[in-house]
Amino acid sequence: MSIPGSVLNGDRSTGVSDRRARILLLGATSLIGRFFTERLAGTGLHAVAISRAPPSGHQRDVAQKAADGLHWALGDLTAPETLPELAPADAVVSLSPIWLLPSALPKLLETGARRVIAFSSTSRVTKIQSPVAAERAVAERLADGEAQTLSLCARAGVACTLLRPTLIYAEGQDHNVSRLAELIRRFGVLPLSGEGEGLRQPVHADDLAWAALALLDAPGTFGKTYALPGGETLSYRAMVERVFESLGRTPRILTVPPPLWRLGLALASPVLKGATSAMGQRMAQDLTFDAGPAADDFGWSPRPFRPRF
Ligand SMILES: NC(=O)c1ccc[n+]([C@@H]2O[C@H](COP(=O)([O-])OP(=O)(O)OC[C@H]3O[C@@H](n4cnc5c(N)ncnc54)[C@H](OP(=O)(O)O)[C@@H]3O)[C@@H](O)[C@H]2O)c1
Repeated sequence: MSIPGSVLNGDRSTGVSDRRARILLLGATSLIGRFFTERLAGTGLHAVAISRAPPSGHQRDVAQKAADGLHWALGDLTAPETLPELAPADAVVSLSPIWLLPSALPKLLETGARRVIAFSSTSRVTKIQSPVAAERAVAERLADGEAQTLSLCARAGVACTLLRPTLIYAEGQDHNVSRLAELIRRFGVLPLSGEGEGLRQPVHADDLAWAALALLDAPGTFGKTYALPGGETLSYRAMVERVFESLGRTPRILTVPPPLWRLGLALASPVLKGATSAMGQRMAQDLTFDAGPAADDFGWSPRPFRPRF
């Protein structure tokens, strides 16, 4: 569904590329947020980061460097009454879980923002049939968050674009690829369930930050939802081999029969936070998405998977 030009006062530009434009940034402390705020510094755009806590560490340094460009405001998206009084804004960029957006969006749009860019996830598609109830629940929350966001934006005549990344990584910061690197450093060897032949498209958080900025004023993307896979499609095993190589190590992978892997995971689950029985099963499944529409509409051209730890 694309939003007709008339909704945007007959002009299909939101004017967000204006150097003085103001962005309301949700999830500045997320994986993507760190890169987004760094990229923002060079644009002349202004952002108000809404977060539950004051910036710390790297985010504080970025906020200080960006001086006038980045302000921090405290607020909880699940309790809109805690959101601060906000000055007029042009766009909302949501890098936090999309199911948090609908309750806060009406208040955020009172600022006059005419553009919403919100990250969802391809888990919306891949986990909907998961044998694990908690994973199905995540997929349902994503689906619900997407539907409500689109509907609120349509009612308000706001140009919305939803982005669904695949597995996100950022060296040393994520819980996917960086966790593999951590396990390799610790044990020197990594067990896989079966051959690990399922295909993956890991995407770097910095490429996603680029996309969020590129989309601010890209009329061809209004009202659309895009999958954002990484620049390379490779098997789970090949992905693990790349992580070994990035650590300067020769890959040492144990091919474990799936029933044994499940048993091992059940025993290790107290120390492997977030590990589920479906993980092994998924290593044999292809989780791939078409980058074509994003490439055609806004030049999505992410890097190949060559992490540098
Ligand atoms: N990680 C992945 O592999 C992956 C894959 C596909 C898609 N995604 C999507 O990509 C985006 C970034 O992912 P991520 O894993 O880095 O982040 P995340 O863990 O999904 O979200 C963390 C961010 O959400 C903010 N947040 C959480 N609860 C909040 C609340 N009640 N009020 C205000 N802010 C709140 C946090 O801000 P504060 O803590 O500062 O308040 C933090 O910046 C998300 O939309 C996620 O769904 C992630």
